[in-house]
Amino acid sequence: MTPTTGSRKRRRLLLASDRIDRSRDLWAILQCVADVDTTGLSGIPESPAGRFAGIVVDINLRSLESVMQVRSKLCAEAYRSMPRLFVLADTFHHASMQAGALDATDTILRPLDAQAVLQRVRAAFPDDDGSTANANALNRGIAAAHAVLVKIFESLPAGVPLSFSDVMEAEQEILTAIKLASLRDWLATVGRHHTHTYRHCLFVTGFAAAFAQHLGMREDDQRRLARAALLHDVGKAFVPVAILDKPGRLDDEEKDEIRRHARLGYDALVRQGGFPSEMLDVVLHHHEMLDGSGYPDGLRGDQISDIVRLTTIVDIHAALVEKRAYRLPLTHAKSFATMEEMGGKIDQHLLQAFRPVALGC
Ligand SMILES: [Fe+2]
Ligand SMILES: [Fe+2]
Repeated sequence: MTPTTGSRKRRRLLLASDRIDRSRDLWAILQCVADVDTTGLSGIPESPAGRFAGIVVDINLRSLESVMQVRSKLCAEAYRSMPRLFVLADTFHHASMQAGALDATDTILRPLDAQAVLQRVRAAFPDDDGSTANANALNRGIAAAHAVLVKIFESLPAGVPLSFSDVMEAEQEILTAIKLASLRDWLATVGRHHTHTYRHCLFVTGFAAAFAQHLGMREDDQRRLARAALLHDVGKAFVPVAILDKPGRLDDEEKDEIRRHARLGYDALVRQGGFPSEMLDVVLHHHEMLDGSGYPDGLRGDQISDIVRLTTIVDIHAALVEKRAYRLPLTHAKSFATMEEMGGKIDQHLLQAFRPVALGC
């Protein structure tokens, strides 16, 4: 199977120079991270119309003529919000003052240091001209997942049914978000959610979608895993919020109450009807351990299905890297090491396949 990964379009830059032959070294460096259009100063287009992520200006900042030409172009409305890097021939005050007067976002110093140039380019310019589209996809994916969680946690306890089609509607948006944006962006955004239980479910969903895509699963299987993740804690809708969001460690009684969520969620979906058996399996068994030490049924080994094993891994990892009121979040690396130490409780082969996803965040 070929893993599918999100691909990003290269940024496109305009390199404006008053001595194009002398700017070749800069052009060669910029090519590493961008498609670069080169132009003399008279050729700077009046209306770049969203074609460029930014402009790099390589001129003699002591030449009044060059400075005036650049100023006349860049003060136009079409360039107002475009980031701009200026190349300085030296560290003298005059050149950097001049660049500042031309609203430089940042400056690059000659002689050129390729690494330093690339670092400044990456920082100054969005990394692709489709970043807005990716951000929109991310927001749509999170909104779709969130809408399902609202139905679960606010409507279900009040007796408003959750249907399987409610869940299916969200799946494609979630997968597209992870594909076009990134798991890191997903986690950063949902990590700001104020409710711990929502945050957890959104984390698990993000990890599950990214894991499915990393494994190169068929689209259909990606959907199955994403929906399993989204639904896995549906039973927490029936656990008192005071326990779910308790800003401290739980006592034994409260832990027992929380543990009931697996069975409560399963019962609710069975009552509802229309949910595939594997979804019911995930909801009921995602806290089972391969050595029989889990709950609620103390299943072991082959009694635990693949989709449950996958969900369990992303569920545990998400829980460990989430911030809690009573402990700092673990780093992804520390969480992964902790799960390795769990040995035969979880599927260690699957865990190793999860390594690039977990450590890539
Ligand atoms: Fe759970
Ligand atoms: Fe969970």
